Amino acid sequence: MSERQAQADMQATIQTGKEETYARLTREIVSVLEGESNNIARMATVSCLLHEAFPDRIWTGFYIVDPMKPEELVVGPYQGTLGCLRIPFGKGVCGTAAAERATQVVDDVHDFPGHIACDSRSVSEIVVPVCNCDGDLIAVLDIDSDKPAMFDQTDRTALEELIEAIFG
Ligand code: SME
Repeated sequence: MSERQAQADMQATIQTGKEETYARLTREIVSVLEGESNNIARMATVSCLLHEAFPDRIWTGFYIVDPMKPEELVVGPYQGTLGCLRIPFGKGVCGTAAAERATQVVDDVHDFPGHIACDSRSVSEIVVPVCNCDGDLIAVLDIDSDKPAMFDQTDRTALEELIEAIFG
């Protein structure tokens, strides 16, 4: 077997592992939250179980659209090191995801204009918009790693599906 083939096989194994982990987590989270309609309880549960399931993550949590300031995010339930309290729409990775209502996958935050460094160890990041059943943006899910390029299409798809299953 060539080295290239071996690397491709190893990558496929890692990907399968990640897909299976997300599938298991989604089942667990849906099960734990059955009958619970409070969004803070839902966000706290998602943050905890997502954070515990993967190594190499230094922050997993939510920034919530502030009902008193609809163009501003305020920190919600999270796991990890201290997060900044408020992020205006359009600022940093979270603010961009909120303003564009589009998932942001960033391999290296140092290349992202306006990135907000809550923790200087942060390198790669994924931010997924969270909408309610009416299609209104209510929050963003932010996951940070201290390693480069930790998030890919598998994370994007799995997290978007998870968010839709829990909050949509
Ligand atoms: N990195 C984020 C800020 C939030 S923290 O990392 C927890 C951003 O640029 O939006």
